[in-house]
Order: sequence, then structure tokens, then C-alpha cells
Amino acid sequence: MFARSAARKLAARQFSTSAARNINVTVLGAGGGIGQPLSLLLKLDPHVTKLNLYDIRGAPGVAADVSHIDTASEVEGFEADKLEEALEGAEVIVVPAGVPRKPGMSRDDLFSTNASVIRDLATAAAKVAPKAHLCIITNPVNSMVPIASRVYDRAGVYDPKRIFGVSTLDVVRASRFLAGIVGGDPADTPVTVIGGHSGETIVPLFSQTPAAKRITGEAYKKLVHRVQFGGDEVVQAKAGAGSATLSMAYAGAKFTNALLRGIAGEKGVITPSYVRSPLYENEGIEFFASNVELGPNGAEKIYPLGQLTAEEEEYLKACKDGLKKNIQKGFAFLD
Ligand code: NAI
Repeated sequence: MFARSAARKLAARQFSTSAARNINVTVLGAGGGIGQPLSLLLKLDPHVTKLNLYDIRGAPGVAADVSHIDTASEVEGFEADKLEEALEGAEVIVVPAGVPRKPGMSRDDLFSTNASVIRDLATAAAKVAPKAHLCIITNPVNSMVPIASRVYDRAGVYDPKRIFGVSTLDVVRASRFLAGIVGGDPADTPVTVIGGHSGETIVPLFSQTPAAKRITGEAYKKLVHRVQFGGDEVVQAKAGAGSATLSMAYAGAKFTNALLRGIAGEKGVITPSYVRSPLYENEGIEFFASNVELGPNGAEKIYPLGQLTAEEEEYLKACKDGLKKNIQKGFAFLD
């Protein structure tokens, strides 16, 4: 009784709801540091009807554990050799599979291991659930999204509106860090974060959040730097035990909830995401994070950046240089 109402209250706090619709969600990498709490949070999301948990190790155990939570969704765990079964009927696939950073590593240092993981998982997803929305958490996100996109393209099933790089943790951090300076509830200081998801490719547009306008000079630079390199704080504090897992699980569940609400037909669900984008295509940057409206077909509308300050233009320039290289590296992996 208590557990049910506690879970409902937590779910209500955590997730916005809209008209219910049956949706199957598959998590690939569900046994990991992100995968476990992410699976827990998805079990609390009222939009999820069936939750399939897959990992090369440990998913059945996580599934057995999570399945006892008294929310309506069904949970099933899949052994390492059951990837295709785990993907059957999926409408949304969330991917935190792969290795995380250790102190001193950049996200790009993860490239060679994680590129193979994403290539193989995307190949299976393109075969079994080609119309599912694919949400990639695995780093380096900037390169993993191009890899998955090309895999789908070669399989003849590429729909650019349905592949997302999850950059929500940057949005969460920007809002939290800003609220820490100006006071108040982070919910009242949302920040649009554009570009990509690593270091200087992360560009928070604080000029578009009224409460941030009074932060200038060195304080502004420090705040931008903290958003760009906030992940390093966690990697260092964990001292070799991995990178952000709990805040990332929260961010992953938040993005998935937004997508599920869009799929369910809720209007006006807008959040930044790293997607195939026309914004800087003519400069050779085919993927870019900006505000995206989510709907039944995925990224239904990609918003332009709006007005930027001169400082933000400078950050954008550095972002584009880095992003271009990350995208090319992703594509080159499959050549
Ligand atoms: P972890 O090592 O704790 O978990 C990764 C899981 O993936 C493990 O359970 C492992 O068995 C599984 N795995 C590996 N290869 C697999 C395969 N081929 N198929 C299915 N599962 C497979 O790592 P953690 O901390 O959960 O991080 C996962 C990824 O998320 C890392 O690449 C990390 O860099 C990234 N990340 C992304 C963030 C973002 O903002 N997008 C933030 C933080 C981390």
C-alpha cells in the first residue's frame, strides 16, 4: 500500500504524464552503472507498458529485481545471446551499453571500444525494430550517433528523425549549476544547451534564460566551463570507479519520458537533443544538438538557435570545429 503510493508519488514527481498508450521500451546495457538506475526509473514511468532489459551480463538479475516494483509495466530480462529477442516489438530503445571514462580520459578515448558496441547493437536494432526510436547515451555521443545512423542507412531503414544522442545531462547540469548561483528551483531556470556532448562542443545558451543575464565576465566563463566539463568532476570524485551514472540515469529517464509523451501525442514537448540537423549541414556538420520538438514520428521539428551573444558565437565556433571532427571520426570507423 505504502510502496504503491510512494512509487506513484515518486513517478508523479519524476515524470510528466499524458494520455496513456502502450509502449515497449528496451534498454541495451541494462546491467551497468547507468543501466540499472535507468531501468528502475523507467519502471516508474507510467508510459512504459513493457520493459525489456538486455546486457552482455547481469540483465536477468536486474530485471528480476526491478520487476517486483508495484507499477503496471511488465519487465523481462535477456541473456547475452538474446539480443534480437530483447528488441522484438520495441518502440523505444535506450542504449547505455559500453565502457565509461576513468580519471584522465576524454570521451574520445572510449571511441574504439564503444564504436564496435554501437555498430553491433545498431545492426541488430535496424534488423529487428527498424522503426523504433533509438536513444544513444554511450560516449562519445558525438561520434556514436553518426555510426548508428550510417548502420541504419546501409540497412536501408534510416529515418533521421528517430535516432537521438542523449545530451540531457548537459541541460540538467546547466539548470542545476545556474540555480546554485542565482538561487531558486532549477525548474524555473531551464537552459537550452546546443552543439554536442563533450567538452567544448557543449554550448549552454545562458543569454536565453532571463535569470542568467546578470552573470557576466569571469563568473559567466566559470559557469560555462563547469557545464562543459561537469562530467570530469564526477569522474575525478569517483576516482576510477566510473563516470556519472545516477545523474545520467535521471537525465536518460527524463529524455525518454519526453519522447514517450511526444509519441503519445502530447503537443509542445520540446527539449535539446543531438540529432541529424539541417542547421550546419552546409558546413559539413550533419548532426547537431538544438531544441527539438518530439512527436509520434520522433524529432518532428528542429528549432534554430535564436539570438546568440558575441561570447556564445565564440563558443559555437569552437563547438563546430570539434563536432565536425567527431562526426567524421564516426563515419570513418565504418569505411
Ligand atoms: P558501465 O561499465 O557501468 O556499464 C556499461 C554496461 O554496458 C555494462 O553492464 C556492460 O556489460 C554493458 N555492455 C558492454 N558491451 C555491451 C554490448 N555489446 N551489449 C550490451 N551491453 C553491453 O558504464 P556506465 O557508467 O553505465 O556508462 C555507460 C556509457 O554511458 C559509457 O559509454 C559512458 O561514457 C556513457 N555516459 C554517457 C553520458 C551522457 O551524457 N550521454 C553520461 C555518462 C556516461
